Amino acid sequence: MAKNQELKEINRQVDECRKCPLYKNTTNPVPGEGNPEAEIMFIGEAPGFNEDQQGRPFVGQAGKLLDELLSSIKVARSDVFIANVVKHRPPENREPQPSEIEACNEYLDRQLEIIQPKIIVTLGRFSMAKFIPDGKISQIHGQARFVEFGGRKIIVIPMFHPAAALRGENVMKMLKEDFLKIPKFLIGDEKMVVENTIILEENEKDERKDTKDDSQLPLL
Ligand code: URA
Repeated sequence: MAKNQELKEINRQVDECRKCPLYKNTTNPVPGEGNPEAEIMFIGEAPGFNEDQQGRPFVGQAGKLLDELLSSIKVARSDVFIANVVKHRPPENREPQPSEIEACNEYLDRQLEIIQPKIIVTLGRFSMAKFIPDGKISQIHGQARFVEFGGRKIIVIPMFHPAAALRGENVMKMLKEDFLKIPKFLIGDEKMVVENTIILEENEKDERKDTKDDSQLPLL
């Protein structure tokens, strides 16, 4: 099946998903959107009000900022894929619960398997935790790691959530600076990747099997 078709099938299944109660209070599912051939995939937390209304990820204030950040590195939104850890809006924009993240995990894993991005940018701590379970966003933001996921080595760059940047000038500055590192990784400058490799298996995100070396090379 073509990638587009496979992604549409996931969208259909997300639309019918009843694996957790989140669907009950929503207007639309927000499975994610973008280029099936994307080299970069951005993964946020969960849809908010505007996303729920439109059925599209990152279309509110945080989305406007994401668009500006993409412009700052001359990457078109239509060239990337944008998704969330949780595909239905949690009530009152509360944080997603572990059981909801677990229930939704399969859809994100399948999107990753189909798209096979070279780079994953995690936005906020919930998506970071999927790939870097022990990570502290304040310490590792902007530092790329190789993560072995689904049998492939992917560059994962944890970043602050755009909504957090909208709440604080300092975070905004750090997020803007971190974004400017993305083009280096896109052109395959692997010196920019910190030395340790995290090996995760799908659905075994809590098992961190190998961390070769904690030393890190400077990034920029
Ligand atoms: N915040 C997210 O994490 N995802 C969205 O799609 C919108 C806001």
